[in-house]
Amino acid sequence: MKAIVYTEYGPPDVLQLKEVETPVPGDREALIRVHAVSVNIGDIWARNFKEISPRKFSMPFPLWLPARMMFGFSKPKINVLGSDFAGEVEAVGKDVQRLKPGDPVFGYRGPAMGANAEYLCMSEDGLVVLKPGNMTYEQAAAVPYGALTALNLLRKGNLQRGQKVLINGASGAIGSAALQLAKYFGADVTGVCSTPGLEYVKALGADRVIDYTKEDFTRNGETYDLIFDIMGRSSFSRCKGSLTPNGRYLLASFKTTHLFQMLWTSLTGGRKVVCALSSERPQDLVFIRELVEAGKIKSIVDRRYPLEQAAEAHRYFESGDKKGKVILTV
Ligand SMILES: NC(=O)c1ccc[n+]([C@@H]2O[C@H](COP(=O)([O-])OP(=O)(O)OC[C@H]3O[C@@H](n4cnc5c(N)ncnc54)[C@H](OP(=O)(O)O)[C@@H]3O)[C@@H](O)[C@H]2O)c1
Repeated sequence: MKAIVYTEYGPPDVLQLKEVETPVPGDREALIRVHAVSVNIGDIWARNFKEISPRKFSMPFPLWLPARMMFGFSKPKINVLGSDFAGEVEAVGKDVQRLKPGDPVFGYRGPAMGANAEYLCMSEDGLVVLKPGNMTYEQAAAVPYGALTALNLLRKGNLQRGQKVLINGASGAIGSAALQLAKYFGADVTGVCSTPGLEYVKALGADRVIDYTKEDFTRNGETYDLIFDIMGRSSFSRCKGSLTPNGRYLLASFKTTHLFQMLWTSLTGGRKVVCALSSERPQDLVFIRELVEAGKIKSIVDRRYPLEQAAEAHRYFESGDKKGKVILTV
């Protein structure tokens, strides 16, 4: 089968179209013919992991080391990128009960990656379920990672109906899903991103948008019950004044200092820092599919590239100009 392979870390051109062996499903696995894969920040980072120092890494140092060991120190160990996919079940192992050949599915492979290929194998207990009936493969491939992570983290942020939420990083994979989920849970949502993403964030249903290149949301006098910072680009000290007295400052990307702040604020009353790791379950993906089918979550594809132009897709993702999801079609 054809796959986009990289054998050294570096710029987008390290991504090469190659012929590799088609995987064979185990007894409890399904072989999936991939139709679409989304490009996410994790692909960009994994492609050049040797440049990600503990300082640049978006998580505490104790998580950098295992990540670096998993992805490889001087050369990549995982040679095919791509986590979010949609496709069709081609064949199943003898013990598979939940899936059958011909089923349209979508799913998420997490750090195992490997979806930038014509075929992949998924355990039937993994994050793979029937695709939403009202989405194309391309639209569906744009959903799982962002929606699963946003759903898990919003639950940890204890969002309640009628609350005011600010999402710092609302045009990205997690932020765009968090925005739609927060609207579904009955919140009033302000989305923050840079100029190219403003229209996209509005189209997803934000009540208000703020361009972080023009306005500092911590200085506009507004207060929020929940500030969800996706990339950790703000700080708790700056955001305190923008939180209601019992407001939560939720981080998708956090450092060791944030963990100390979380510990400290859990011991004191008032505003809280919440750092959490998402732990996705297949039933979360089923719930997300139901929300998609009910029209509560949509995905807006900005650009699509054929698999062989993966390098071009990475360049566009990194340009900062994207206004929605970037998809590879297989
Ligand atoms: N806790 C967990 O379990 C977990 C799981 C997965 C990922 N993560 C973390 O989530 C992060 C990736 O999120 P993602 O996939 O949504 O990334 P993404 O798709 O690249 O989106 C990043 C978002 O951040 C915005 N942004 C960039 N610089 C900003 C700034 N200075 N101020 C405000 N917003 C800014 C971007 O807006 P513009 O494009 O307009 O600049 C965009 O909306 C990573 O740090 C990763 O470590 C955490």
